[in-house]
Amino acid sequence: MDYFRINGGKRLRGTVEISGAKNAALPIMAASILCEGEVVLRNVPDLIDIRSMEKLLNKLGVSSVHEPGGTLRLKVQDEMNCHADYDLVRQMRASVCVMGPLLSKRGRSQVSLPGGCAIGDRPVNLHILGLQALGAEAELINGDILLKAKRLTGSELFLGGPFGSTVTGTANVMMAAVLAEGRTVIEAAACEPEVADLANFLNACGARITGHGSPRITIDGVKKLTGCEYTIIPDRIEAGTFIIAGAITNGEIRLRNCRLEHLLAMVDRLRLIGVNVEREGDEVVVSSTRRLEPVDITTQPYPGFPTDLQAQTMALLCLADGNSIITEKIYPDRFMHVGELSRLGAKLRKEGPTVIIQGVKRLVGAPVMASDLRASAALVLAGLVAKGETRVNRVYHIDRGYEKVERRLQALGADIERRSGEDE
Ligand code: EPZ
Repeated sequence: MDYFRINGGKRLRGTVEISGAKNAALPIMAASILCEGEVVLRNVPDLIDIRSMEKLLNKLGVSSVHEPGGTLRLKVQDEMNCHADYDLVRQMRASVCVMGPLLSKRGRSQVSLPGGCAIGDRPVNLHILGLQALGAEAELINGDILLKAKRLTGSELFLGGPFGSTVTGTANVMMAAVLAEGRTVIEAAACEPEVADLANFLNACGARITGHGSPRITIDGVKKLTGCEYTIIPDRIEAGTFIIAGAITNGEIRLRNCRLEHLLAMVDRLRLIGVNVEREGDEVVVSSTRRLEPVDITTQPYPGFPTDLQAQTMALLCLADGNSIITEKIYPDRFMHVGELSRLGAKLRKEGPTVIIQGVKRLVGAPVMASDLRASAALVLAGLVAKGETRVNRVYHIDRGYEKVERRLQALGADIERRSGEDE
């Protein structure tokens, strides 16, 4: 298995180009199931998860052609298979995004329940409730959710759950509603930019969606969707991760193709910590004072502080001058990185969904184990500043969501390389 060897202490300098958003590309790829005609997607990141979604779509009768420079061509060739099996879904939860399009376009979808993962339980009950509100019949057979509907009918539905809105749940219901009879109103919809990007893609194919990006989305059903050419938005979580890379190494880096308006909750906290994040033309410049201030952070649905940047920000706060508190309201168990950061000398205490971070003067390199995508990114960030050598094992977790990350960090001056070998 591949691992990263990192020698900490280099201050990052230079410019990095932000890739297309993984969590926008995945549902938009699934939405190609709805389209009669070719879909051409630009700025698609080259990631393990993108390839997994492509494999799933191929099994569902959608052909795919990659072109250099992040262009992906998708076209429905055959509508026979409507089954997303366990093998594919357990590898990538975002596979559930085919549920709505299959039901809406083909009248049937059989998708394996995704089960749990490193960040906690991953239920899809809200997805199913939303699709049932449009007229779907649901049945659980052998761990698969089987949904059927001759014709879906628009309705007003509430999609909020105990942890707030659901991102892929909103995506599924929206993709089902675009071909339903009449009007659908989704109340307590997810407001994430990736959901808005999906709605913009669907509208470019002839859908009639308004209110996306707000908690109330209205969809007026249409008879069919054409194909279209569409460019995926930049990845705000990747951008946030690189911003922290610049801050934690006390460097000065520039980000190109970064939509700062998608990161305001994080920028708000970083400024309190002592990290400056400013627009300069069409770039974003990151610099930090040597002394980092402690802060309190609670993760919330967008536009609140993103759960996908919780682990990375914890790595930064390990070096703040005082005690910080992070409370995780989206995935209360999303703390696989706590034990590994402690191996690097961080002083962390978990109290239920909250972690108290006692700032230390320095971190010290050691072998650590990647677990989920964002926890792994946090370990790389900590390794960039830890004294001596850090070895991050099982970096395939990182390859799921960050394109060629070690090469882009090397280009910013980091002493990091990818090696193959057994876990240490
Ligand atoms: C999306 O996952 C993202 N993935 C996740 O990013 C992200 O962490 C998450 O949204 C929250 O922002 C993709 O977009 C592919 P949710 P999703 O449904 O849609 C509960 C990454 O690192 N819930 O918004 O699966 C759920 O348990 C990944 O790129 C229900 O209770 O998340 C959670 O506590 C990790 N019932 C909360 O809602 C449901 O039916 C938010 O989940 C659905 C969700």
